[in-house]
Amino acid sequence: MVISLSNQIILLTGASRGIGKAIAETLGEAGATVALHYNFNKLEAEKIADRIGNHSHAFQADLSRPAEAVRLGEEVLAFYGKVDCLVNNAGIAESVSMEMGFEAWVESWQKTQQVNLLSAALLSKELLPAMIKNRGGRLIHIASRAAFRGDTPDYLAYAASKGGMVAMSRSLARAYGKQGIKSFVVAPGFTRTDMAQQFMDEYGEGYALNDIALSQLTEPQDIAPTILFLASGHMDHATGCSIDINAGSYVR
Ligand SMILES: NC(=O)c1ccc[n+]([C@@H]2O[C@H](COP(=O)([O-])OP(=O)(O)OC[C@H]3O[C@@H](n4cnc5c(N)ncnc54)[C@H](OP(=O)(O)O)[C@@H]3O)[C@@H](O)[C@H]2O)c1
Repeated sequence: MVISLSNQIILLTGASRGIGKAIAETLGEAGATVALHYNFNKLEAEKIADRIGNHSHAFQADLSRPAEAVRLGEEVLAFYGKVDCLVNNAGIAESVSMEMGFEAWVESWQKTQQVNLLSAALLSKELLPAMIKNRGGRLIHIASRAAFRGDTPDYLAYAASKGGMVAMSRSLARAYGKQGIKSFVVAPGFTRTDMAQQFMDEYGEGYALNDIALSQLTEPQDIAPTILFLASGHMDHATGCSIDINAGSYVR
């Protein structure tokens, strides 16, 4: 089977590093035009856009600010005239101890929900009307194993944000299917990126390795092909589903 995404415009958040970078490169190899979103890593996002070609372009937005998520959606729509697929990948995983004081705890919870959940919801909301007008579109949400298995107490806010993402994706799939919208969740386990490094610095690499059924930690390149397949349309009748990619660490 040859998968071609040429003629597809795909907005991918958090494309400058880690899982997002691998997804961008895989989508680009299949011919997609990728709107690469970044927050701080402009240079890297622009380099990836140049490498991919296909009129791919980098767009900045701080997704901890709701208005910026809306602006990002508007900017990308204005730039390309349409978006066929949105990949909500940008995310943060802050460790916030149960012993932390009220203000810092609330602040971290709010920031986590803004970046991981609210911005994903706002981008979906912003792009839906244009997708429906364009006879359909696909929403792919990168959640986490934490949404299903739960996480450690320090990552309560993170797990809750990803659980919210799953409920949102299922709702969108059920509500807008007749209008051509498909919505999917991909739920990675530990994947070797800056985000996982932060957890491994805290708990050790052995903790992550002991947890999985395979002998090697998942790499960003192990996640990207699933996104390509979902974006291709071959999985449309699985709309509403969640796909685990966690090296057998949580089988449900
Ligand atoms: N790595 C794992 O073990 C793992 C496991 C399960 C799920 N996930 C999920 O997979 C997704 C990607 O994770 P990753 O490991 O690739 O993360 P990462 O390496 O830490 O990269 C995070 C990406 O999100 C962007 N980002 C962070 N804060 C942002 C903000 N305030 N506004 C806009 N963009 C922001 C970053 O942009 P800049 O670099 O440009 O600032 C970067 O592109 C996340 O949703 C994460 O929850 C990861």
